[in-house]
Amino acid sequence: MKAIVVRQHGGPDVLDYADVPMPNPAAGQVRVCIKAIGVNRRDAFIRSGIYPRRLPLTPGIEASGVVDAVGADVTGWGEGDRVVYYVPDVLGAYAEYQTVAAHRLVRLPEALSYQDAAAIFDHGLTAHYLTTSTFPLRKGHRVLIHAAAGGVGSLLVQLAKRAGATVMGTVSTPEKSLIINRLGCDHAILYRRVDFVGAVKEYTGGAGVDVVYDSVGIDTIHGSVRCLTPRGTLVLYGQSSGEVTSINPAALADAGSLFFTRPHLAHHIATPEALRSRSADIFSWFLNGEMSVTINRVYSLANAADAHRRLDDRSCFGKILLIP
Ligand SMILES: NC(=O)c1ccc[n+]([C@@H]2O[C@H](COP(=O)([O-])OP(=O)(O)OC[C@H]3O[C@@H](n4cnc5c(N)ncnc54)[C@H](OP(=O)(O)O)[C@@H]3O)[C@@H](O)[C@H]2O)c1
Repeated sequence: MKAIVVRQHGGPDVLDYADVPMPNPAAGQVRVCIKAIGVNRRDAFIRSGIYPRRLPLTPGIEASGVVDAVGADVTGWGEGDRVVYYVPDVLGAYAEYQTVAAHRLVRLPEALSYQDAAAIFDHGLTAHYLTTSTFPLRKGHRVLIHAAAGGVGSLLVQLAKRAGATVMGTVSTPEKSLIINRLGCDHAILYRRVDFVGAVKEYTGGAGVDVVYDSVGIDTIHGSVRCLTPRGTLVLYGQSSGEVTSINPAALADAGSLFFTRPHLAHHIATPEALRSRSADIFSWFLNGEMSVTINRVYSLANAADAHRRLDDRSCFGKILLIP
């Protein structure tokens, strides 16, 4: 079969479209014939070596497809089942086929296409746990979302509005501010033109926000602390601008007894029940129109390098998919 192979860390050119052996499902696994692959920022971090991994590797943490072979000891799954899955620890979704542990699979509703499923899965599950478990949002909360037009950010805006919160979002360009306003954001902050801390303080009458969802990291973290109301929560869930290696607990106390957390999706879908229940929510919100996602561009798997060039270009909005 064909798959993308990375033999050395580097730019998009290291993504090689190559022949590799067809995998066979071991006990407890199924083989999925992949129909659509979600391209994520994490894939670029793994490709470039920001998240170092043993090489060679096939990148890819999420895909949708159809079960085409079933290993021993697998119950409940059969050939022809339509599925989606997320495997950040094992990787390997940039391929025509992948073997996946059966407990990682989620069945697709009939109405959900392979492409839409791959477009909403990782980002949708992430926005789900951040707004329901990490900091359960409700009416009246004031929220700041960094990178609000990003993959996760644009879904956070929608789910925060769905919960009844007042939403502020930072973006780099006027085009992105139009996008987040259309998604319901109450106040778009063009952080290249204005200081985002001052903008938050002004919009909230000096009070600050109850929660900051920060995926940018090193460039924003200290400002995020200053945006929070006393006993507010700083949720650092990504590091697009660089890793935050330390937070001074005394600074959290001085800023108003703040809460700080660095959550990860994997720990919020660790059981099949949690995975199924969060998936069911995002599928239904998507299918009934309460949550939307834009598919920015669809590339063939052979052109994964072009997809990564587009991902590295920050003007890109919405999800990029690969099709084997
Ligand atoms: N913890 C978890 O469970 C979890 C799950 C999924 C993703 N993540 C992480 O969340 C972050 C966002 O993921 P995503 O898929 O939503 O990303 P994305 O769609 O690529 O959005 C990233 C946005 O961050 C902003 N940004 C600010 N500084 C940046 C920089 N130096 N380089 C690149 N972008 C920068 C850009 O928006 P502006 O141009 O508007 O500034 C960019 O569009 C990533 O770090 C990802 O690894 C974490």
